[in-house]
Amino acid sequence: MQVFVYKNAEEVARAAATVFAAEIFKKPDCVLGLATGSTPVPLYKELARMNHEGLIDFSRVRTYNLDEYVGLDPAHVCSYRRFMNENLFDHINIDKANTHVPCGIGADHEADAKAYDAAVEAAGGIDLQLLGIGHNGHIGFNEPNDVFVYPTNVITLTQSTIDANARFFDSADDVPRQAISLGVGGIMNARRVVLLATGEGKAKAIRDSIKGNIDPKVPASILRAHQNVQFFLDEGAASLL
Ligand code: PGA
Repeated sequence: MQVFVYKNAEEVARAAATVFAAEIFKKPDCVLGLATGSTPVPLYKELARMNHEGLIDFSRVRTYNLDEYVGLDPAHVCSYRRFMNENLFDHINIDKANTHVPCGIGADHEADAKAYDAAVEAAGGIDLQLLGIGHNGHIGFNEPNDVFVYPTNVITLTQSTIDANARFFDSADDVPRQAISLGVGGIMNARRVVLLATGEGKAKAIRDSIKGNIDPKVPASILRAHQNVQFFLDEGAASLL
């Protein structure tokens, strides 16, 4: 594991963007694992800028997002499909047919979750997985648990996550209680993982992930068993290391 500390969120975004650009340059049809939330937004802006300037070409890139809320239509203003379109896909030359977000409105979520893992595998696996981290140490929507859950699965969100994500909704009551998330296995199978964390609010989760034991109560701690993982932190997120 490597840990890089930058002055602020903008510098984190610029550094992470170079990693994504290099991956796309090396393998133009690479498979990117993408994330939602506030943290990756500056990275997505930087990637869009680089795309406009002709520095990176997304025309053959394929993407698989980590997660989606159960019950939200892709067009819903808070769905992760819509988030990805508005924050990245609408601003780069990617073929939307090559972008994938778990379906939260299917008739059989368990079957959809299984199919998502199969689709990632059929695509050749994830070359570069982007992660944020929850205040409780979650990655994707893999919440603190007694065991690591490896396949993509339906997750019941913890109160901490509901409270953290309430800012995107009219109220905490409107936050869906469940989500479909790529499992810990899907994340660990990625050939390379880049985790971004910015702000002091993430300092405890980062410290517990990097300094504590590998423990399903801190899901991101499993990344220490990954062969090729980098944490890109700002000074706030690194402040307890
Ligand atoms: P955030 O979410 O980037 O909005 O803080 C990260 C996460 O919950 O994984």
